[in-house]
Amino acid sequence: MTEPVLSVRDLKVEFPTRRGILTAVDGVSFDIAPGEILGVVGESGAGKSITGTAIIGLIEPPGRIAAGEVMLRGLRIDALSGEAMRKIRGKRIGMVFQDPLTSLNPLYRIGEQLIETITTHLNLSGAQARTRALELLAEVGIPAPETRIDNYPHQFSGGMRQRVVLALALAAEPELVIADEPTTALDVSVQAQIIALLKRLCRQHGAAVMLITHDMGVIAETADRVAVMYAGRIVEVGPVRDVITAPLHPYTKGLMGSIPSLTGETDRLTQIPGSMPRLTAIPSGCAFHPRCPRAFVPCPTFRPELQNEAKSQVACWLYQPFPVTAGALP
Ligand SMILES: Nc1ncnc2c1ncn2[C@@H]1O[C@H](COP(=O)(O)OP(=O)(O)O)[C@@H](O)[C@H]1O
Ligand SMILES: [Mg+2]
Repeated sequence: MTEPVLSVRDLKVEFPTRRGILTAVDGVSFDIAPGEILGVVGESGAGKSITGTAIIGLIEPPGRIAAGEVMLRGLRIDALSGEAMRKIRGKRIGMVFQDPLTSLNPLYRIGEQLIETITTHLNLSGAQARTRALELLAEVGIPAPETRIDNYPHQFSGGMRQRVVLALALAAEPELVIADEPTTALDVSVQAQIIALLKRLCRQHGAAVMLITHDMGVIAETADRVAVMYAGRIVEVGPVRDVITAPLHPYTKGLMGSIPSLTGETDRLTQIPGSMPRLTAIPSGCAFHPRCPRAFVPCPTFRPELQNEAKSQVACWLYQPFPVTAGALP
């Protein structure tokens, strides 16, 4: 097996508050192989963005990584200094966020921003960096790069701005791209184009991708493997085809029911009743049990861990023998 580009092990992220410590990410582990696209999916509040933010070292204090490890090609990066991490972001890890203006400075021409990123991270002269910037803009499908390179971010449409962000994310040839809801803020008509572009570019550049989205449809079209998150934990992870055609966890089954293109229904989407718990009130046992149509004896009491099942891993008592502890069960 080749060494993963990214290895996350038992990651735990906590936010101390006046009312106690909130655990937003609780024991998350996964790998992303070179060139692989891992989709991370789950409803709002599942802990997807916090997981991505922890990996790139941008959890805002007093929030903190309370346990676990993040390895980038074998280098442990969760305990690096702010300065060392700044060098890794942009160079070895490219980032694409929901709002292109998170990545683009409105006060600078897009060419200046691209050239600055290129000269900071690659050993190129100003003229070479400009040539490289023009190539990147052409590659992400910006028409007339020679004129557009001197435009400001506000002179682009949302979709075009996200293309510029992709150029910026890929400018230093990163090994890993973390894309957090990269199309959620865009018109539906351009979402598919940006997703297709992200996929094609990362394949061409050989970058591994962590694609965070609440949209199982995006995952279905893009990812090689998918990790399904619920209440700060991964409840199922496996090859995208298996997870989509034969979801194991009742939560994944519920999410699958909400993809219009897969169910053939556009007007009546199956919704999972209830909502993601607040961090102050995560249910005991399996956090999904109050919403689960298949919940049974062990679920409110015992927390299931991920176990191999077919080609996937699933954390659910339906697939493993449950513990029988004297007094705990009726
Ligand atoms: N700075 C913070 N302080 C306290 N709780 C936070 C903070 N940031 C995020 N959270 C909580 O962490 C949980 C996971 O958030 P997030 O990772 O953004 O979810 P997702 O991206 O899956 O929608 C949410 O319940 C959110 O309210
Ligand atoms: Mg998010």
